[in-house]
This record gives sequence, C-alpha cells and structure tokens, in this order.
Amino acid sequence: MATIITVSNQKGGVGKTTTSGALATGLAAEGKKILGIDLDPQGNLGFCLGLEATNGPTVLDALKGKLPVREAIRHTEYCDILSSDITLSNGLNVERSGPRECILRTTIEPVINDYDYIIIDTPPALNLLTVNAYAVSDYLVIPMASDILSLVGLSQLKETIDGIRASLNPGLKVLGILLTRFNARTLLSRDVLEMAQQLAGQIDTVVFDAKIRTGVAIAEAPAHGESIFDYNPRSSAVQDYQEFVQEVIGRINSAKEA
Ligand SMILES: Nc1ncnc2c1ncn2[C@@H]1O[C@H](COP(=O)(O)OP(=O)(O)O)[C@@H](O)[C@H]1O
Ligand SMILES: [Mg+2]
Repeated sequence: MATIITVSNQKGGVGKTTTSGALATGLAAEGKKILGIDLDPQGNLGFCLGLEATNGPTVLDALKGKLPVREAIRHTEYCDILSSDITLSNGLNVERSGPRECILRTTIEPVINDYDYIIIDTPPALNLLTVNAYAVSDYLVIPMASDILSLVGLSQLKETIDGIRASLNPGLKVLGILLTRFNARTLLSRDVLEMAQQLAGQIDTVVFDAKIRTGVAIAEAPAHGESIFDYNPRSSAVQDYQEFVQEVIGRINSAKEA
C-alpha cells in the first residue's frame, strides 16, 4: 500500500510543484515506484517529471470516471503521473456517488497497491481539490518561502488541517514545514525560521532540518525535461533537495516504527 504525501500551501510560488517533483524523482531514484498526481490546473508537475506530450489523458478524466484510472496514468522516465491541465480549473464538478471530499480516494483506490509512494501537488488554494488531497493522504509537506508574507494566512491552513483531522482523515500527519529560498545569512530568513518553528509546534510538526537555498538549476531543469537531480547534481539547492528527500524517508520510517 502506497504512502501518500500531499505537498500543500495555499500560497503560490512557494515551491510546491518543485518540491513535489523533487520528492517524486528523488524517491524514484531510490528505486521506489512512484505515482505523481497533479491537482493544479496550471499543470506544471508533468514538466518537472519529464512528461513530453502535453495532450493526453488527465487526472480529470479519471476523477470524472470517464477513463479507468489505469488508462489515465501516463509514464515518464522517472515515474507515473496523473497529469492535469487547465480544464481542471472548473474544479471537481463531477457526478460521482459518495461524498465530494472523497472523489480522489475513490478514483485512485484501484492503483494504491501498485506504488510505494504517491505524491500529490496541489493548487495555491484551499478548495475542494485540496481537501480531496488531504482526505486521502498519510502526510502533508508544507513548503514555505523564506519571506515574511509567507507567514500570512497560515492560521487558515491550521484550521483546514484541524477540520480534516476532525472529520475525514483523523490520521493525517504533517511531516514538516520546508523552508524554500532560504538564505541562512539574512536576518529575515532567521526570523522566518523562528516563526515557522512556532507554527510547526501549533500543528504538531517540525521544520525540516533541510532548508532549500535559491538556485538557478531548480528553475532551469524542467525546461530540459530532466529532474533537478539529473540536471545539476552539484547545485547547492539541488543538494538541499537531496537532503530533504532523505529526511522524508527517515521521518516516515521512524513514524512507522513509533
Ligand atoms: N529553490 C529555488 N531556487 C530557484 N528557483 C526556485 C526555487 N524553488 C522554486 N523556484 C522557482 O520558482 C517558481 C515557483 O516555484 P513552484 O515550485 O512552481 O511554486 P508553487 O508550485 O508553489 O507555485 C518556479 O519557476 C520555480 O522554478
Ligand atoms: Mg505549483
């Protein structure tokens, strides 16, 4: 049975898609079988996972029940993916039986045993798509850019997580907050770290030891159809993501033992 990890923050541009891609390709490089699911209508996760053709089945076809999930899954050199495109922006207006919050769960149920990890990228919103992702997940990873505006609105995220834990998914754990665009030399980054640690305490989690620096390789890799790890393993930001992937594996293993 796959471990399901959702990468989420209602803010845009904080590194959700980059982090989802790094997790999927990094875990694949460890020999794990991965399914990436793109729930953002911007459809960028496919690029990060080396998906070439832009037209083809999408996650929406599976969510609507138009295609069996296995037929909607596409394959890249790194992993499998349920990709998305702009048609997903109409949201989950689909006719299916059962609660609206559980459409994703019902959709992927037939393939959960085919994978070691399922990594879900989410839109910059706390909408029904995001709630569906939270409802089916074992873990959340929350990337946060190291600027002061990143902290605004995070109390809303806490409320959402509490709400999901109280209803749809009592077992939902926050694996950690990941600081991105981090620069240990600036006072701002250190302030943000301190505040992120406080927030982590409130949602019963930690700030990952790995912190992601800014690096051009991160922004360039998708244009080359390569994972960040293949594109430039020597980039310091890429090495930060390497450390993050190892930390995720370690934290999940120790959570399983506990
Ligand atoms: N550590 C980083 N260093 C440099 N560029 C980054 C880094 N993280 C993300 N980016 C770039 O910033 C932009 C937004 O990142 P993205 O992962 O798409 O955020 P989100 O999915 O939260 O909107 C992208 O162009 C991405 O390539
Ligand atoms: Mg994104």
